[in-house]
Amino acid sequence: ETGALAFEERPETLPAIARAIENCRKCPIGELHNRAVMGEGPRDATLMIVGEQPGDQEDESGRPFVGPAGQLLDQYLERTGIDRGAAYVTNAVKHFKYVQRGKRRIHQSPGAKEIDTCRWWIEAERTIVKPKLVLALGASAARSLLGRTVSISKARGQPFALEDGAEMWVSAHPSYLLRLEGEAREKQAALFAADLAAVKERLG
Ligand code: URA
Repeated sequence: ETGALAFEERPETLPAIARAIENCRKCPIGELHNRAVMGEGPRDATLMIVGEQPGDQEDESGRPFVGPAGQLLDQYLERTGIDRGAAYVTNAVKHFKYVQRGKRRIHQSPGAKEIDTCRWWIEAERTIVKPKLVLALGASAARSLLGRTVSISKARGQPFALEDGAEMWVSAHPSYLLRLEGEAREKQAALFAADLAAVKERLG
């Protein structure tokens, strides 16, 4: 079974979480040569956007969603009329999991156990930010928030009630769109845009 694992006392401020995740070794990802990437955004954001984990550029810069997937996300948010600056943007997993291939670091998806372990931190963030709406991008984010694996195609298009009363919507991860071409990409792009529009509608 899944669910958050309990560790020490949860930090009660966002800067304290940022300090604590830097040294987190609760799972093996933190042992790689990488840095923790904290969520960013207003402490009282209504919307929390959750990705999978930092990628290469996020690890370099220390900020979430600044690489290619983040740029695509930014385009869609802007088009939908959702202000990224008003949202709290974070990830299910706080360290970049990769394998080294020559000079390149190749993304590896976090495992269920790693996602469940890292829930400790996103739950700490949610306890502080208390977003009314949560947008989970991709299966890792959805698992992190629900504690179980769901299929994006089945989960999207409907709200899920989280135990703290927040409403969660699920969509695909923008890096999935980046991997598609032609008609498949157009189809997924339309679904992604519709998911964001549903969130915008709930935001008012
Ligand atoms: N992909 C994610 O899921 N999160 C990021 O921060 C960057 C890329």
